[in-house]
Amino acid sequence: MSEGVVDRYGVMGYPVSHSRSPVIHRLFALQTKQNLQYELLQVPPAQLEKAVEQFGRTGGKGLNITVPHKSEVVHLVSEMSDRATKAGAVNTLVFRGNDIYGDNTDGVGLMRDLQANIGVRLQDATILILGAGGATRGIISPLLAAEPQTIVIANRTIEKAQALAGRFSADGPVVACKFKDVGALPVYDLVINATSAGVKGETPPYPAEAIHPHTVCYDLSYGLTPTPFAHWAAENGAARSVMGWGMLVEQAAESFFIWRGVRPETKPVLKQLTVNIPLS
Ligand code: ATR
Repeated sequence: MSEGVVDRYGVMGYPVSHSRSPVIHRLFALQTKQNLQYELLQVPPAQLEKAVEQFGRTGGKGLNITVPHKSEVVHLVSEMSDRATKAGAVNTLVFRGNDIYGDNTDGVGLMRDLQANIGVRLQDATILILGAGGATRGIISPLLAAEPQTIVIANRTIEKAQALAGRFSADGPVVACKFKDVGALPVYDLVINATSAGVKGETPPYPAEAIHPHTVCYDLSYGLTPTPFAHWAAENGAARSVMGWGMLVEQAAESFFIWRGVRPETKPVLKQLTVNIPLS
């Protein structure tokens, strides 16, 4: 880096004003003494290609890509990591000359939060995932890599759950069902909410029979107050009900590592970010 030039990063989404990524990356940069700037970039879908190209052409070093662009941006990269290919989505771009490298750090972010921060044992675990959209697709492979006993995907639209189960069934034990059939299936160690219902202010008929006194419930979404799912999980007697703040910080740390080659400490940043927020 030449003197006086600060490396530029940012998060592209639509809308994006609520994003905590700038705060997280600024805290990482301070902690690791990296000189960089990180911007919020509100880009509507029709302008995604132009905005990405322009960011790279004007010297930008890397981007986080968030909702609703994670699947679309796959078409704009010159090379993609295996984990991004499996997820069918990219959340991290690295600009290298004329090339754009795409990666996806969401899965590893969830795994670190579950295993290192929360202490969930995934090997031989029974896991229920609610929802069968992009978020679910991004977490199946990393969860299967931890060798659970089974993953059940329950979805309002059964065909989408079946399609995902079919896609990943060669990699491990994954099956599909409707919300109302969850009860007939195993006692779950972990229930993950990967629907977008809470974000839209909706509360689906989550299957309460999935929760046992030892069950950990994890919402990929997060909020300043408990999400509808987090609330529901606590009310129905889950051992723990956790929102995805930790995943957010862990996926950011992995992106930061990809860009800067330095791995920041996540615990103090998670603490700083969520001070005054009930984590479940
Ligand atoms: P994506 O673009 O990633 O597919 P999405 O369309 O917002 O995201 O949906 C994500 C998941 O949330 C889907 O599994 C969706 O269920 P359907 O496949 O049946 O549409 C689920 N979802 C969203 N709102 C829901 C609600 N009110 N009740 C139940 N499931 C819901």
